[in-house]
Amino acid sequence: MTLRVGVVGGGQLARMMIAPAVELGVELRVLAEEDAMAASLAATAVGDYRDAETVLAFARDVDVVTFDHEHDKLVMRARLEELGLPQPEWAAVTDSAQLQEFLDAHGGRAVVKTPRGGYDGKGVRVVSAGHEADDWFAALAEDARGGALLVEELVDFSRELAQQVARRPGGQRAVYPVVETVQRGGVCVEAIAPAPHVTARCADVAAHIGTTIAEGLDVVGMLAVELFETVDERLLVNELAMRPHNSGHWTQDGAVTSQFEQHLRAVLDLPLGDPSPWARWSVMVNILGGPSEGGMTDRLPAALDAHAEAKVHTYGKAPRAGRKVGHVNVTGEDLDEAVYAARATAALTTDAVILLFSPKQAFSHGDRAAAGVRAVGCRRARLSADSPVKVSRR
Ligand SMILES: Nc1ncnc2c1ncn2[C@@H]1O[C@H](COP(=O)(O)OP(=O)(O)O)[C@@H](O)[C@H]1O
Ligand SMILES: [Mg+2]
Repeated sequence: MTLRVGVVGGGQLARMMIAPAVELGVELRVLAEEDAMAASLAATAVGDYRDAETVLAFARDVDVVTFDHEHDKLVMRARLEELGLPQPEWAAVTDSAQLQEFLDAHGGRAVVKTPRGGYDGKGVRVVSAGHEADDWFAALAEDARGGALLVEELVDFSRELAQQVARRPGGQRAVYPVVETVQRGGVCVEAIAPAPHVTARCADVAAHIGTTIAEGLDVVGMLAVELFETVDERLLVNELAMRPHNSGHWTQDGAVTSQFEQHLRAVLDLPLGDPSPWARWSVMVNILGGPSEGGMTDRLPAALDAHAEAKVHTYGKAPRAGRKVGHVNVTGEDLDEAVYAARATAALTTDAVILLFSPKQAFSHGDRAAAGVRAVGCRRARLSADSPVKVSRR
């Protein structure tokens, strides 16, 4: 009998499960929030995932259900504490006086987060005074579930990493290599797999954190652990995603088993696939915004023509400033070349000011001294990403 997986949420994550589902002969059914979403091709129901009846009716016709929604960040912090895992200092605060108290105890600056409903930096704010989250406190007061805001110390990280682990119900696991991610304005812009210049110890610790969480929280499916790497090489858990994650899009073209196929295997309790990368480097660059006129399709020929080795993935979403509308994957033996090709290809699909010169060039523009020896690869990537250089277009 055909296995049926129900995905609650009709965005790009569900969309990218369609191809591996077809290949495995699995029937994918999607409960989409509205018509014409990224995963509309597999949408069998449209409705509100917060309505229990809607979700139950959807679940009745499938073998397993998987959600691509975020969880409560306060609950997550408390559970991570129980598991004894390293994380930023944090507190739950219910008013501006409590927030001010936390600020006073943590150097006058902190990060406030709404526990639910945030993504891509929405719901994350750096504050230096207790009143700077008054609008969020007011919104909480109106929320029937009430509750508190999460406040965290502002971590002075050298870079951000992400660790992915897949887990089957019986406990079988597949551990992906730890990757470096670059966020701008709270939104992931790039990921490099494996993380450049990562020490064996750091990779081990990241894997250990990932597997501890997968076991401790009894995760079934893909788990992504967002991590901060501090200058003294400590890892702190930023947040979790129990679903395929942007930091793992590289696996579509750079790993033996993509995170989307792996997620399906795990939730169906099928044997997991090999998570190994098959190329030395994989680089993923997000396409943010898309073209200001016309659609992505108009830009496709130029983008595909730019670098034959680049793989362009589009989400079928209408272009809008800052919106994730696709990504580009490039694999190869030379990191600089892969970064360049991925950025160049992404740049041709969007009007945003992009990052278009090679890390090598960027490095010579940048602060060599600050780059240090150990962190050269990642610094280079970050310097070029932040450089205000306009893309030249053909
Ligand atoms: N405690 C912190 N200290 C420093 N930067 C942070 C902290 N928390 C979050 N950030 C920055 O904000 C980004 C988004 O925060 P995150 O909690 O991951 O929210 P989202 O759910 O929007 O991804 C992180 O990737 C990181 O760049
Ligand atoms: Mg995040």
